[in-house]
Amino acid sequence: MLELTSVCTSYGLTRMLRDVSLNVAKGEVVCLLGPNGAGKSTTFNAICGLRPLDSGSVRIAGRDIATVGTEGLAALGVGFVPEGRRLFSSLTVRENLKLGFDASGSKARFEDRLEAMAELFPRVRERLNQGAGTMSGGEQAMVALARALIGEPVLLVMDEPSLGLSPKLIDEYFAIVSAIRAGGATLLLIEQNAEAALAVADRGYLLVRGQIAASGTSAALLQDDTVRHLYL
Ligand SMILES: Nc1ncnc2c1ncn2[C@@H]1O[C@H](COP(=O)(O)OP(=O)(O)OP(=O)(O)O)[C@@H](O)[C@H]1O
Ligand SMILES: [Mg+2]
Repeated sequence: MLELTSVCTSYGLTRMLRDVSLNVAKGEVVCLLGPNGAGKSTTFNAICGLRPLDSGSVRIAGRDIATVGTEGLAALGVGFVPEGRRLFSSLTVRENLKLGFDASGSKARFEDRLEAMAELFPRVRERLNQGAGTMSGGEQAMVALARALIGEPVLLVMDEPSLGLSPKLIDEYFAIVSAIRAGGATLLLIEQNAEAALAVADRGYLLVRGQIAASGTSAALLQDDTVRHLYL
């Protein structure tokens, strides 16, 4: 479903990602771990087509995204949850969800999908008419996820969705991710919270200074010395 092959990208003269290769098969939940500044968001941006590559390729459902363009990506059925949520704070929750729905090009009825999201996110249901900017951080995290899910994406890519949430909300958030997983979603979860991410993922990769330093099943990564040294 998602395949990065030897992706290299630079900021000016500084090489940031070096030969990053990773893949996510249909129905898999894969996490990308890495400390601050490792290049996780750079990888996210490369997947969204927002960061030009020096070399290598990003393919989604077999199509090279360099030839698809940013608008074409949504049409491929990819849902993105960017770092820091990026909601439209002056719009209501419902309006934010409508924008996500429209961008997805979904053929479903908006009201049906809205109801499905309200069921998955009870906190969102209560607050559909509230300004998104006045929601708490935890609520905004749920809205950002609902906005990505409302178009029934074939692939969901999330950049540190649990950042800034309290431990209780992190549990609540990952319970929802587990529910999405159980529904058969294909997911790339970019996270610093290694324990929570490995608990929900089938496999993972560790990014350190722009390179893949380790990869394997979640169980293997929990035992990996580099992962343990960095996180556990
Ligand atoms: N637009 C930019 N211009 C120059 N350098 C950048 C730019 N964006 C990111 N960087 C640098 O690239 C490196 C990787 O940044 P990136 O945002 O990908 O890290 P990250 O793994 O997502 O970190 P975090 O966990 O803090 O979100 C950092 O050193 C960062 O300062
Ligand atoms: Mg980041």
